[in-house]
Amino acid sequence: MSIALCYGTRPQVVKASVLLDALRRRWSVVSIDTGQHYDFELNALLYQQLGVPQPDHFLEVGSAAPVSQLAAVMTRTDDIFRARPPAVAVVIGDTNSTLGCALAAAKNDIPLVHVEAGLRASEPDLPEEVNRRVVDVLAHVLCAPSEVSASRLRKEQAPGTVVTTGDVARDVLLRHLQVAPPPAGRTPFALATAHRAALTADREALAALLAGLGRIGMPVLLPLHPRTREALERFELLAAVPAAVELRPPMGYLVTIAAVRDAAIVVTDSGGVQREAYWLGTPCITVRGETEWVETVESGANALMPPLSAPRRLAELVVEQRRRRWESPWTSDAYGDGHAAERIAEAVGTLLD
Ligand code: UD1
Repeated sequence: MSIALCYGTRPQVVKASVLLDALRRRWSVVSIDTGQHYDFELNALLYQQLGVPQPDHFLEVGSAAPVSQLAAVMTRTDDIFRARPPAVAVVIGDTNSTLGCALAAAKNDIPLVHVEAGLRASEPDLPEEVNRRVVDVLAHVLCAPSEVSASRLRKEQAPGTVVTTGDVARDVLLRHLQVAPPPAGRTPFALATAHRAALTADREALAALLAGLGRIGMPVLLPLHPRTREALERFELLAAVPAAVELRPPMGYLVTIAAVRDAAIVVTDSGGVQREAYWLGTPCITVRGETEWVETVESGANALMPPLSAPRRLAELVVEQRRRRWESPWTSDAYGDGHAAERIAEAVGTLLD
């Protein structure tokens, strides 16, 4: 009897690192990396840094139009599931890899566990939204990272069993923080990241973010996701990058958490970086009109800013968020205590009894 763990993008490799350990303590695990992310910095570097064993199956789906990518994940996972059906399949998050593996499990009658269940946004064109909603309907066990996401699932009458487990990203952070590089003692700087389609497919939005970053009065570190670098080239925006903004290749996990910890402010559209800032006590500005991680905003750690308002609003928001950090520091307890992976393993166990 084995448990299948499916992942394929940068944040999923991070989360798989702790899930693999927790599941392997109890069962034999078949790990499946879809290969949705394949660049060294988005994939192999994380395996190295987080000590993730090589996957049992590497599907090499790579980049493609969304439906083709989804179909490749689904058919290649289906081949594995049909050859040797696992007792349970575990999927993480809301990517095309998540949905493809979840559908392959459903079509093979394999009980499904969804890690990071119950997140919602109302942006109509957010590619991840359909993925997470469908997976939440298919899952037999829904592992919610917070009470808010768990009660939302209950209100929606999700067909599966809802369990509040906490967030595995916190487990990973607590495990690795001590081995992250020490503070470099540099002058105050901002860490910025941008990778979502809302920015990378919209020249005006991307240009507005860059202009805003140039006005905050401190150096900005901007590690670029490959699609963002490609967007800067395609939109001919490289020349519009302000002098204060230093472009970097994508950074590994340890350097990233050290930068989040040491930054004076984080400006991001990444869900993972928003939570890391919340846990590490760094004020954050999210370059979107909304976030799935509402607890970070309610605590005061995070503020929302639609990209088009960046030139006018970002500099003053940076000041406001930094002041707020000192005047009313937040408690970072909305997403569990760093033992989410163990609770998820327990929840998997309930499907095997
Ligand atoms: C995906 C997820 C998103 C997650 C993000 C983390 C979906 C719908 N979206 O978005 O939820 O937050 O991963 O990074 O699944 N590319 C490379 N090298 C790579 C990977 C991608 O160059 O290793 C480029 C390709 O040009 C590709 C583009 O990035 O077309 C987009 O990649 P894709 O995997 O489709 O989506 P992400 O933006 O990474």
